[in-house]
Amino acid sequence: MKNREQFSGNLSVIMAMAGSAIGLGNIWRFPYIVGEYGGAAFIIVYFAACLFIALPIFYAETIIGRRGGLDTYGSMKRLAPGTHWYKLGLLTIISPMLILSYYSVVGGWSIHYLFKSVSGTVGQETGQFSEFISSVEAPILAHTVFVILVAAIILGGVKKGIEKFSKITMPILFFLILVIVVYSLTLPGAGGGVDYLVRPDFSKLTGGAIASAVGQAFFSLSLGVGTVLTYASYMRKQDNILVSGLGTAGFDFLFALLAGFAVMPAVFAAGLSPSSGPGLVFETLPYIFGKMGAGSVWLTACVAGVFFLAVLMAALSSAISILEVGVAYLVEEKGLGRSRATLYLSLFAWAVGLLCSLSFGPLADFKILGSSIFEFLDKLCSNWMMPLGGLLFTLFVGWKMPSADVLDEFSNGGSKPWNVKIYPFVRVLLRYVAPIGIIFIFLNSVL
Ligand code: TRP
Repeated sequence: MKNREQFSGNLSVIMAMAGSAIGLGNIWRFPYIVGEYGGAAFIIVYFAACLFIALPIFYAETIIGRRGGLDTYGSMKRLAPGTHWYKLGLLTIISPMLILSYYSVVGGWSIHYLFKSVSGTVGQETGQFSEFISSVEAPILAHTVFVILVAAIILGGVKKGIEKFSKITMPILFFLILVIVVYSLTLPGAGGGVDYLVRPDFSKLTGGAIASAVGQAFFSLSLGVGTVLTYASYMRKQDNILVSGLGTAGFDFLFALLAGFAVMPAVFAAGLSPSSGPGLVFETLPYIFGKMGAGSVWLTACVAGVFFLAVLMAALSSAISILEVGVAYLVEEKGLGRSRATLYLSLFAWAVGLLCSLSFGPLADFKILGSSIFEFLDKLCSNWMMPLGGLLFTLFVGWKMPSADVLDEFSNGGSKPWNVKIYPFVRVLLRYVAPIGIIFIFLNSVL
């Protein structure tokens, strides 16, 4: 077999994995669902969901990926020869491609808004957002550019593409979001937003809110579709799985919080509602920037530009991790060259994304089970395919793999004392807590 590329070390692994984790889920989805479910109380539940449900599944994928040392399908085949488990590998080739399709549409929106920001035409009025997403050419053009950028980074390979891009963008991303947090906190009336984020109101915590917190943790840590598994297969044997998981989940949670503190204080300062849904970041926020920079077109352009540049970088470093799952599969199992694999899969994602984009406009009346194409794919992946993949990964590591093998991989052959100490706890989470948490998501989607 060909020599596989590897990430250069622990730090690179964390940067790449954090790049995958930190994305539209943090900066676009997190603030608006926090707004819908009432603020601080939701954040507390979300934290618990990350620690006790998402992180164990993250470890399950990491253990399979590094021990298998191949793409999802190949790794499963290697670890459970002669069984049906490899089919899980196939499921996880399909789900990421579907996710990439609609993810790229939203990624495209961030490109469009970045251009609007720097050209000084952002946020003069509300209503622009729905007009934009329901139009034909502009969102499709932006989606196309986004897919091309993703493909270009993936063509660079594991080290020169994924690792390099993530190492450059992650620090910049944190810096940019901090700039917005500071700006947002200094707006008159920002205190209401801070209160909202730190003072819990537990009366809003319904079962639906809890299931959403678990689902959000899943999406945010890129679980259940082989993304983490594929990246882990590029980890060196001496790198520390415990540390990479804690680092990734820690940065991911921190970034979601920062995004909350970038958005909510501004929303409250402008006297708007925190629960304005998916339009919160693309519509409400530019409007606020426009209003607050009152008179200074230049200031508005800068702040909005910084913000949407952050959204774009976050989206790109996540999208590459989704594409890499399929590329690794085609290269390793089907013997395709990296360029050809990238070309085919990005064309696929582009074409399906086209339909998703049009489903906000001309195709709005075309419904699958009552949802538009975009909504349908999002629900299918977020509520079903990702949890299903995650469930099977934890069951595999918790119940099927010999415990000694799991411990061996988790602790690098017993050479990491902390990992050995923590393992019994991780094992309980893997076998019982995480599967039950996932079943909770299913029940919520069914009821
Ligand atoms: N976690 C990313 C975000 O928060 C998106 C993402 C990357 C993802 N890879 C994934 C989501 C795999 C689901 C599955 O935006």
